[in-house]
Amino acid sequence: MPRPMSDPLDAGIVGGLLEALSPRFEIRVRPYCDSTSSELLRQSLPSDGRIVVLATEVQTAGRGRSGRSWASLPGSSLTFSILWPWPHAPARLSGLSLVVGLGLLRAVSALGARSIRLKWPNDLICAAGKVAGILCEVRQPDAVVIGIGINVHRAPEAAVDAAALASCLSGPISRNALMARILEELFGELTRFAESGFGPFRQAWNAHHAYDGVDVCLKGVRDDAYISGICQGVDEDGALVVDTAGGRRHFLSGELSLRPT
Ligand code: BTN
Repeated sequence: MPRPMSDPLDAGIVGGLLEALSPRFEIRVRPYCDSTSSELLRQSLPSDGRIVVLATEVQTAGRGRSGRSWASLPGSSLTFSILWPWPHAPARLSGLSLVVGLGLLRAVSALGARSIRLKWPNDLICAAGKVAGILCEVRQPDAVVIGIGINVHRAPEAAVDAAALASCLSGPISRNALMARILEELFGELTRFAESGFGPFRQAWNAHHAYDGVDVCLKGVRDDAYISGICQGVDEDGALVVDTAGGRRHFLSGELSLRPT
């Protein structure tokens, strides 16, 4: 008989931890689905204004950025998506995924994680590798789906350069507590982002950037062209600023991947 999970995801526990914020969310936990983000992209916004959050233990078709797949481990990963109402123009979403990354970093830090940094555009990394990934998708005209995958207790062996959040903590961590802390953090930050855009988050994001002042090589996602230079953080729109031999250039999220040279 399979052993019961030691830290099962539980919507009631997450709701309880959210306390006063709990009525703002509709939290669902499914044992499996194709992808929590694909599922929420198919769903309507609730008429009562609540924010739908869908978490699962198993994704049969988990998706990462740039058409890659996303691997997770039942009982070990935290895999969920948020259906965030977005009645504004999609152009105003510039920098959203960076704000989500900052929210995640603040949440894991509040729970005791050390030495986690941000890798542009929206990964959380530690010395051992990538701890979390974020995928933001616009569902015109009314919402954006924010997908979050975190390697909490262990990292999937199939995932290249992946590391577990547990390796950055000195004590145990509960996935329910982590999810509640993230939702709390993101609720405040996304509300602020909808009002004021990325600008107010820029300084904090740059303060946690893993490659600030570092020689980097930027590679196009769709072609093999690459550009090298010194990374100068992000600008008011969340674009990566790189001083190249040909002058200063700004790169928008989603177009490029980044590796230290
Ligand atoms: C990346 O770094 O490539 C982004 C990974 C995003 C993974 C999450 S897991 C929950 C949600 N559902 C998906 O299919 N993808 C996102």
